[in-house]
Amino acid sequence: MSHIAEAARRRTFAIISHPDAGKTTLTENLLLAGGAIRAAGEVAARGAQRRTRSDWMKIERDRGISVSASVMTFEYSDLVFNLLDTPGHEDFSEDTYRTLTAADCAVMVLDAAKGIEPQTLKLFEVCRMRDIPIITFINKMDREALEPIELLDEVQDKLQLDTAPLYWPAASGQRFAGMKDLTTGEFCQFDRRPGEPPHIGPATRIPGSDEDLIGKLDDHVYAELVEGVEMVTGLLPKFDEEAFKAGNMTPVVFGSALRHFGVAELLNTLRDFAPAPRVQKAERKGQVISVQPSDSDVSGFVFKIQANMDPNHRDRVAFLRLCSGEFKRGMRLKSATGKQLNIHNPLMFLAQDREIAETAYAGDVIGVPNHGQLRVGDSLSESGEIQFAGIPNFAPELLRRARVKDPMKAKHLRKALESLAEEGVTQLFKPAIGSDMIVGAVGQLQFEVMIERVAAEYGLEVVFEMAPYNVARWMACDDPAKLEEFLDRNKSASGTDLDGAPVYLAKNAWDVGYAQEKNPSIRFTATKERSL
Ligand code: G4P
Repeated sequence: MSHIAEAARRRTFAIISHPDAGKTTLTENLLLAGGAIRAAGEVAARGAQRRTRSDWMKIERDRGISVSASVMTFEYSDLVFNLLDTPGHEDFSEDTYRTLTAADCAVMVLDAAKGIEPQTLKLFEVCRMRDIPIITFINKMDREALEPIELLDEVQDKLQLDTAPLYWPAASGQRFAGMKDLTTGEFCQFDRRPGEPPHIGPATRIPGSDEDLIGKLDDHVYAELVEGVEMVTGLLPKFDEEAFKAGNMTPVVFGSALRHFGVAELLNTLRDFAPAPRVQKAERKGQVISVQPSDSDVSGFVFKIQANMDPNHRDRVAFLRLCSGEFKRGMRLKSATGKQLNIHNPLMFLAQDREIAETAYAGDVIGVPNHGQLRVGDSLSESGEIQFAGIPNFAPELLRRARVKDPMKAKHLRKALESLAEEGVTQLFKPAIGSDMIVGAVGQLQFEVMIERVAAEYGLEVVFEMAPYNVARWMACDDPAKLEEFLDRNKSASGTDLDGAPVYLAKNAWDVGYAQEKNPSIRFTATKERSL
């Protein structure tokens, strides 16, 4: 198969949700539905690939690399699905945001009893920034849920996203009976199977018209369903694939991830509508270009770095999202800034395993083991001429001053913090005055992880204290002299990030607003796109 046809069958997506909405349960059940794992949790043995796998295990042992499953690849219906794991819960970090930059589509999981929650909203905003199409899965229908129409209204109001239900549920909680497929008219039956493991696979369908359901559903549930279907088909627009692909409309599937209901239907919705790898904007020799998945120059960008868990090895794995061409093991890729790398042991990630990738195509994600040369936002290509746009840094929500307990070790601490910041999970700012090290993170947990890692990997005891600033904003101005002047006047409230880019360090959001008002030509931004 040509690399063009291979790219066309890739579907790269992520799942976004608020903690506890059921992302983990849904991930596992999608893998079950896709046949990537077995119910017992066993990967199907694939003899031919044994050898490459053991190759990898040897490398893992020799170099001490250990990588969690950040990408899960599985084949279903002649398509190759790459499910990108967005760390949830307290792990929520810049990584979570940036993983979305590598996805072509997202599944938004909502808890049917809760609707849109704060983290769903934040993640949704990132999807919106990049016009990533979203499929909505309303989970936990086996529990008492809000009225489905209320849930859709909330999506419409809070996210400004048109909703197009592909299914409509029949009640919820104890009375949950299933859902009607609004496209075919069939009814997908929820098989309760008390005390038994759920049935894996698509729901049993009752064909025919609503009347065929009389006697099969509780009278009240039936009446509610008929009324609900009449209302939504009258009120809501029909699913429009173009509006979905533009990020303006979301198809909605209901279900219960825990009971494996609606999961195969969700996977089929992904199969039918999730877009193939997108065209990516980039720069080549000063020109803005569109990189097509069909282009023959192999290219991709690094959206995540994972450090080694073993403190004796400093190796890292960079996650490279491929955007074009046919990647082959052993290939030499270059960055526009002159970095060069022979990729001998590219990893691909299966549901519960990893293998050496012999080939990979646009849409795929490969892990590139390296000694720290690669940074988040780096673009790699065969030609070395491509720099992708839009791998953003996000302004941290928490700033702390880092101090090492042994003052003689301040330099060592700076090195440690720099190398952790290079992984892209946290940020390090250097105020214009003084020698403070200001660390920024999206969540509190990042600081706790850092304390442990700095101790384990660098043997230093770090303390994070309240910082004199609470907000960081990047600054940009078309007139460099104006920016210089501002920085000069505001030395005590400015600094630089790891790349030397100017940052405004403010006490609060009000200060930022004030500075913006007084300096209209300067842009104070909460995201920094990697400059071209
Ligand atoms: P997350 O990754 O989004 O944080 O959510 P996770 O899948 O861990 O699910 C959070 C809780 O919700 C879990 O219960 C899980 O079993 C439950 N859950 C997920 N999907 C459904 C569903 O469709 N129906 C029902 N009734 N529950 C669901 P827990 O008690 O926190 O954990 P556990 O002890 O069951 O593992």
